Amino acid sequence: MPVTQFAVTDTYEYLNGFGGFKESEAVEGALPLAANSPQKCPLGLYNEKFSGTAFTAPRNDNQQSWLYRILPSAAHQNFEPVPESSSESLTSVTPSFGKHFNAIPNQLRWDPFDFDKEASWIHSLHLVAGAGDPTMKQGLGIYIYATGTSMPEKTAFYSADGEFLIVAQHGVLDIRTEFGKILVRPNEICVIPRGIRYHVTLHDNEPARGYILELYQGHFRLPELGPIGSNGLANARDFQTPVADFIEDYENTEWTLYGKFGGNLFAAKQSHTPFDIVAWQGTFYPYKYDLGRFNAIGSISFDHPDPSIFTVLTAPSIPHGDGTAVADFVIFPPRWLVAENTFRPPWYHRNTMSEFMGLIMGNYDAKGAGKGGFQPAGASLHNTMSGHGPDMPTYEKASTMDLPPTKIGEGSMAFMFETCLMLGVTEWGLKTCQKVQETYNAHSWGPLKVHFKRPDSSRGVSNGEKKNGVAQKDLSSVHDL
Ligand SMILES: [Fe+2]
Repeated sequence: MPVTQFAVTDTYEYLNGFGGFKESEAVEGALPLAANSPQKCPLGLYNEKFSGTAFTAPRNDNQQSWLYRILPSAAHQNFEPVPESSSESLTSVTPSFGKHFNAIPNQLRWDPFDFDKEASWIHSLHLVAGAGDPTMKQGLGIYIYATGTSMPEKTAFYSADGEFLIVAQHGVLDIRTEFGKILVRPNEICVIPRGIRYHVTLHDNEPARGYILELYQGHFRLPELGPIGSNGLANARDFQTPVADFIEDYENTEWTLYGKFGGNLFAAKQSHTPFDIVAWQGTFYPYKYDLGRFNAIGSISFDHPDPSIFTVLTAPSIPHGDGTAVADFVIFPPRWLVAENTFRPPWYHRNTMSEFMGLIMGNYDAKGAGKGGFQPAGASLHNTMSGHGPDMPTYEKASTMDLPPTKIGEGSMAFMFETCLMLGVTEWGLKTCQKVQETYNAHSWGPLKVHFKRPDSSRGVSNGEKKNGVAQKDLSSVHDL
């Protein structure tokens, strides 16, 4: 089946399609006719502009929405820093200005990250790795979330630092955003752009766990398709944006608004709900996508293409050159392998890009599974120019096996956050989490055997040595003639 068979049915309504203009009203007539900011908005609503890009960004890149709400988002008390002792604090803060992530060249792999039954959404965000600085709007952060309780009632969270790409691995997130409600199930992803306020409820109180890429710069978009043509990979029609949905709660009430700003957490009280947008229209909004709908494309002759063929979403980095991304979200879905005379798993490689991988479910074809291997809810990091590839047993099997058409990855979904930046690891990722597999390299590539055999021991192999006993031409003397 080309879609995921989910255990939980999503009963919410959505608007279909990736990007572009959308509009939604929860009450008929809430959207003004023609004007974006009429002298008086319909139904006594306030209007508010919500900008995801500079006003003057090119038309195709511009992301702005108009919100029609009961009270403006500005109506709140001052923000105060949230103390570390708070049950809502960030457990692994972004390195502050002037400090850096620990960039190290070792290959890293983590055992599955634990659930935290006590933590709600904000407290469950563990920054594992990243690069750059949110105050400069450059770089990205990678988080593990592992939450055991819903966010407290009458609280909301937003990140001013970047766009959250949430990869659900376990448990269902019922997210009320300012734009409407989204249900995010394992094998789905959800993108919540910078600044959007939301509240996370755990469906059926089931703990939830997954991965997040926070993009400090730009926005995710669909990759170009080039010679593939007009369809394929993640099709635009399969992305879903919530419809407008609001709460009326503005009398004798108190809400707490948590904001992540420059890597630190702040809180402010307000006497009305943040979820009071009755209608909205524009090009800046949250969305979700079922990874089971990805149209995988690959070789039907020999060799396998670069893993860029599995890119779901990309965030280009203009300063790094054409076709270069500060973040690519890439998946390795179930697919047929039919290539002949081909080493079918990923090749050994070193990459100028850094690769952070996770596993939502099942097994990944390049690595051993089970305890001590690459497991669901675990992760790996292969940093800039750090060599990696299949482990020894995978190589031995794949280089000698028969090559009939084979379906791989049934019931599996691995993914990669790839970036042109050198990724650093936080203290939490290196030590506090206690999940780093210390013998990852030794187990994976230490046992690789030498299969090389010199075809003829009389032949030299170094440049300048004799071949078949005949002296090589001395080119300089040839030129002297
Ligand atoms: Fe790789």
